[in-house]
Amino acid sequence: MAIKETKEFSRGMRDVVAAETTISFVDGENNKLYYQGYDVDDLAGRVCHDETVYLIWNGDLPNLKQLRGQQRELVGEMRLPDGIIRLLRDIPSHAHPMVVLRSLVSAMGMVDPEAEDNSLEANLRKRVRVTAWISTLIAAYYRISQGLDLLEPDPEQCLSYNFLYMFRGREPDPEEQKAMDLLLMLHTDHGMNASTFAARVTASTLADIYSATASALATLKGPLHGGANQHVMEMLEDIEHPERVDEFIDTLLDQKKRIMGFGHAVYKGEDPRAKHLRTASEVLCSRADQARFYEMSHRIETLVREKKGIFPNVDFYSASVQHALGIPKEFFTTVFAASRVAGWTAHVLEQYADNRLIRPTSKYMGLYGRKFVPLEERP
Ligand SMILES: CC(C)(COP(=O)(O)OP(=O)(O)OC[C@H]1O[C@@H](n2cnc3c(N)ncnc32)[C@H](O)[C@@H]1OP(=O)(O)O)[C@@H](O)C(=O)NCCC(=O)NCCS
Repeated sequence: MAIKETKEFSRGMRDVVAAETTISFVDGENNKLYYQGYDVDDLAGRVCHDETVYLIWNGDLPNLKQLRGQQRELVGEMRLPDGIIRLLRDIPSHAHPMVVLRSLVSAMGMVDPEAEDNSLEANLRKRVRVTAWISTLIAAYYRISQGLDLLEPDPEQCLSYNFLYMFRGREPDPEEQKAMDLLLMLHTDHGMNASTFAARVTASTLADIYSATASALATLKGPLHGGANQHVMEMLEDIEHPERVDEFIDTLLDQKKRIMGFGHAVYKGEDPRAKHLRTASEVLCSRADQARFYEMSHRIETLVREKKGIFPNVDFYSASVQHALGIPKEFFTTVFAASRVAGWTAHVLEQYADNRLIRPTSKYMGLYGRKFVPLEERP
């Protein structure tokens, strides 16, 4: 028996509108990104990460008093519960940092007494907590895995400063601080990307904010999403010298392999975030005596544009920027997460505020009307 299936299928759900949002807008036709109506090109280099978090969460840029207030709240929540530190100390030091982060954000849902309180008041507190905890978790896992002491955050400083300080054990200089703020600010939110969609699907079941964040982290990990930045660094390390770029890229393209850090599901041309990170990469790499990483990246960009007509995305220059900041490549995607958590939690609260269970359908392509055969009669 054949039943005619009439549902429309969009591969990868392209152009399917899954939610209404006021948080950010990815204008793929014009290669623009807006946070709460502000063009990210206007914000880049002019606002710090904490200001962007405030904007994404509250809909407006903060005044100085509001910024300080949020900073105190965030840094005040950076201390990890003892139970989480004990878990961190038991994790094998070779575990991938994204696996650790995904698992321990889930574990936070066990130790936070407010985890199951889904009131707006509790959720506003939990979004601050999970955002602050993620930065500390990444730094703490790195230091424990290296046999180093854990460091306390400085209450007078912002989240990005404290992240770099608690991770590396030395204060960022002004140029590093500027680059870190830019990097984090550019990753804060990005429309209905895969991890944000995952967070919203989980939130739409009215599961708690830690469950939604764990779903988002699991989704961010893949190389077609946030995991791409680590793969870009691996490619740069494989290439080694700028003179080897052409041969290396030609081989990848001949083999029809994907070049990590290139292409985008929405932007038709250049990802607006990439150009800001390109500039940061040039400055930081030359200062850190790593000019070859910028040179290789720039040559790859030129070649891939010429030969394939595709442009770098946010992950491409993020790799050389993070490398110049002294962050090991295995941690690159966790830094993406440390920023994007502000966007995820904003979307989770937006979903709760006007919720309907997200439950798409599928186009059935299988068989119909098969005759059942009992176990003992099957050949
Ligand atoms: C991001 C990405 C998944 C978007 O993919 P998409 O919009 O679904 O595009 P498709 O996978 O349908 O690819 C369209 C075409 O472009 C090609 N393409 C896309 N990205 C490519 C890349 N990075 N390198 C080489 N070719 C690429 C595909 O091979 C395909 O070519 P074809 O039509 O000849 O088969 C894709 O560009 C990609 O895999 N990029 C590399 C991973 C990455 O950097 N991810 C981070 C995203 S921010």
